Amino acid sequence: MIMIGIFDSGIGGMTVARAVEQLLPELPLVYYGDIARTPYGSKSAATIINYSLENTEFLLKQGAELIIIACNSASSVATEALRQEFKVPIIEVISPAAAEAVRQSRSGRIGIIGTRATIRSGVYEQTIRELAPDSQVVTQACPLLVPLVEEGWTNRQETKMIIRRYLHPLKDQQIDTLILGCTHYPVLKELIQHRIGRRVSLIDSSIETAKALQRFLAHNPDLIKSTGSSPNHSYFVSDLTDAAQAMARKIFQRPVELRLA
Ligand code: DGL
Repeated sequence: MIMIGIFDSGIGGMTVARAVEQLLPELPLVYYGDIARTPYGSKSAATIINYSLENTEFLLKQGAELIIIACNSASSVATEALRQEFKVPIIEVISPAAAEAVRQSRSGRIGIIGTRATIRSGVYEQTIRELAPDSQVVTQACPLLVPLVEEGWTNRQETKMIIRRYLHPLKDQQIDTLILGCTHYPVLKELIQHRIGRRVSLIDSSIETAKALQRFLAHNPDLIKSTGSSPNHSYFVSDLTDAAQAMARKIFQRPVELRLA
């Protein structure tokens, strides 16, 4: 079986790893969370590209044969560079989420929340407009949410207040679909849904990316050679912290052994 390499700036990409695990349980996977350098979203494009190149090299050394950039910030600025540098297939998280938002939105009014790097890149708007030129896209950068999730503050009053503050401008825009344009945000899905209202559909980039991987493998069946043995899943991090360990357990709903890379 093809080994899937998944990286993120921290634990957020585990939402993608979890979605892959649920949809394609037979696949071996190796994860790398660059916790020591998180968050990426407030850094320059050049720095995010450098980190993404290093993370991909690490995963390839572990035997990965396909890379998922499980980070919207890195997907929005580093996909091109990774595709130029490495020969393995590279799957990013933006196109699957944008396509699903266009498919689900009836009014064409689509909101996007993400890190500063993702929102500043304009990649979501561009992708959505290519698919549906009449769409109205409203964006909101939410830079404080990644550190709150990395800290495990997923149900605190402070987090609820910050979400309210970030979503306030979107509430007046009559969006019917909101893209969670950061792989950390599925952890805050219920708080976000509660605040934006039940009438707005949330698009979870982690689930859409797992489906994109499934479609890719269906089109490339030669990549799936069954070994019959149970798949190995390894989770590496660049810094081993109690908060990361606790969040990994929360995301996978079981104990997960994090290894220091
Ligand atoms: N999970 C990453 C994303 O999807 C967070 C990026 C960051 O570290 O700021 O954008």
